[in-house]
Amino acid sequence: MTQLDHYFLQKRNEFPMLNQEIRNQQLVYFDSAATSQKPQCVIDSLVEYYTKTNSNVHRGDHYLSQKSTDYYEEARVRTAKLLGTTSEHIIFNGGATMGMNQVAYGLKHIFEEGDEIIITEMEHHSNMLVWLELAKELNLIVKVIPITEEFELDYKKAEELITNKTKLIAYSHMSNVLGTINDVKHISKLAKSVNALTLVDGCQGIVHTKVDVHELDCDFYVFSAHKLYGPTGVGVLYAKNTEILKPMFYGGGQIQAVSLDDDSQENSNISYLNGPARLESGTPNIADIIGFSAALKYLEEIDQKKIEQYDHELGRYFLEKVKELGDDFKLYGKSTMENRGNVFSFRYLDKHPSDIATFLDQFGIATRGGFHCAEPLHNKLGINGSIRASLCFYNTKEEINYFIESLKKIKEMF
Ligand code: ALA
Repeated sequence: MTQLDHYFLQKRNEFPMLNQEIRNQQLVYFDSAATSQKPQCVIDSLVEYYTKTNSNVHRGDHYLSQKSTDYYEEARVRTAKLLGTTSEHIIFNGGATMGMNQVAYGLKHIFEEGDEIIITEMEHHSNMLVWLELAKELNLIVKVIPITEEFELDYKKAEELITNKTKLIAYSHMSNVLGTINDVKHISKLAKSVNALTLVDGCQGIVHTKVDVHELDCDFYVFSAHKLYGPTGVGVLYAKNTEILKPMFYGGGQIQAVSLDDDSQENSNISYLNGPARLESGTPNIADIIGFSAALKYLEEIDQKKIEQYDHELGRYFLEKVKELGDDFKLYGKSTMENRGNVFSFRYLDKHPSDIATFLDQFGIATRGGFHCAEPLHNKLGINGSIRASLCFYNTKEEINYFIESLKKIKEMF
């Protein structure tokens, strides 16, 4: 066992969910791409918030409201730090899906009929359906960057697809199926050459890579807190320029002034706040955002570099060990850790993915079977679904060994 293995084994013990038996066997949780488990400090922070601080933010002149507001804004500062930016660019919402919808709705005013939006073949439905629907509504054209046989974006084709009509390129930082990490800097450069905006779906990328939005030079970066060891119901939308987005929701907490007196001009009697507040109307998900802040503090203490190093070590081990399964195991993704994270989608014995996932569950191993909300990608791969094992820093090499042994036993059962 390496020093790194030992360090992360200790970290694993800080996630109470992992220390339990499922079907009389120690749980092996290989479904972190769907949602991660939470360290004890995140769970504690939720209990503490509801026990000692619960009160509304930005709305009270009393001690507790100010304390809640301080914690809430501290979460924004920590999130900004995670992304290498400052807090006026960070908007909290209900999750990545909501973030993408906020951007699609908020940008409606920039499009003219016949304008183009570019997405990729490896997108999650969340970063696909919003654009297809917007295109239908506004008569836009959606173009799709294909993937290569090496499971990477076809950057050459991307260059051909981008034109002066391209207004937005929306794509994932890391595929939730293939594990491929895309070259965001390169796409940003291509987009800039035609003055197009870029939206990056960072749901998986934020978990497996160090993100600096200024270095990546994207206009929007979206992710969900629950995949980054935080509670569910919290999303982050980074916007280089928040002012470009028209609010999708109207309500309390977003205006400078409103009056019913002046009806001479449409909306002349409403003035909105600048920055994130304009896009965060209504009472936000205070407790869970503060819980997310606890997750970020926890991650800061571990250090992203160490996480990446262990992630890669674990990924290399996984890719090496699956070779023992020979042709029975077909991986859909890169076979080295170069530009990839620990999301491994595969077929086994060419059985239906749900069958294999169900068998694995009998061994206490949690994986996901199906399309993983990326049906067009599976169509392109020519398969009716895959089984996905997604790992993060609380997983171990020992669990990978058990996973391989379990697959061998499953073969004997057919
Ligand atoms: N988007 C999540 C996944 O890929 C739910 O599983």
